[in-house]
Amino acid sequence: MQRESPTPGNPPIHPLWMRITHWLNALAVLVLVTSGWRIYDASPLFDFEFPASITLGGWLGGALQWHFAAMWLLAINGLIYLALNVASGRLWRKFFPLSLAGIWRDALAALRGKLSHDDPRRYNHVQRLAYLFVMVDIAVLVLSGLVLWKSVQFAGLRELLGGYEFARRIHFCAMAALVAFVAVHLVMVALVPRTLLTMLSSHGKEAT
Ligand code: HEM
Repeated sequence: MQRESPTPGNPPIHPLWMRITHWLNALAVLVLVTSGWRIYDASPLFDFEFPASITLGGWLGGALQWHFAAMWLLAINGLIYLALNVASGRLWRKFFPLSLAGIWRDALAALRGKLSHDDPRRYNHVQRLAYLFVMVDIAVLVLSGLVLWKSVQFAGLRELLGGYEFARRIHFCAMAALVAFVAVHLVMVALVPRTLLTMLSSHGKEAT
């Protein structure tokens, strides 16, 4: 069944710039995480290594090339996304208000399978929290990455993050949080596949 959008002109559910930056961002994250695992394996922080088969780059030098290339994509694309989100007022409209009571209510409803997905234009409070969290997490990844990349040039930032070694741990933990977000995000998309259409389609018709 197809339902017409209630808004005049039947505009897309997500603006085109958001869909383009989202998919470029997903590509950058995939390259960064898998090449990052290869870089980690060259000098592991903890008592384990990532299996070579799920890493990108083949060897340390190759992985660094992938990592540096994708880092520009993530940083520039992320800044464009944030700038357009703030300038258009979309950030406040879509992600706020956000309250502990709302998060609790929506999380309970989700666990009981009673969370409504009637209107894909509105994010529930758990989604708002998760999306805002991942924006901050990616900012932490980029800032700690800058310290690891040019620790002498970014000395002030390095000290703010507790020194080079601590920045490495921050970078690792932020990566782990990002991977956890993506895992949950993909499960949610699989549970409500209709949201994927809204991220791909250029019209406001909602396929149900
Ligand atoms: C890999 C890193 C990814 C990150 C960091 C990420 C992050 C995000 C964020 C922050 C939003 C909300 C954006 C906004 O409204 O401004 C979003 C929405 C969405 N993402 Fe992703 N995403 C990623 C990958 C993916 C992938 C691989 C898929 C699908 C296979 C996907 C499907 C979606 C969908 C369908 C929505 C809309 C959700 C809805 O309407 O409830 N994302 N994503």
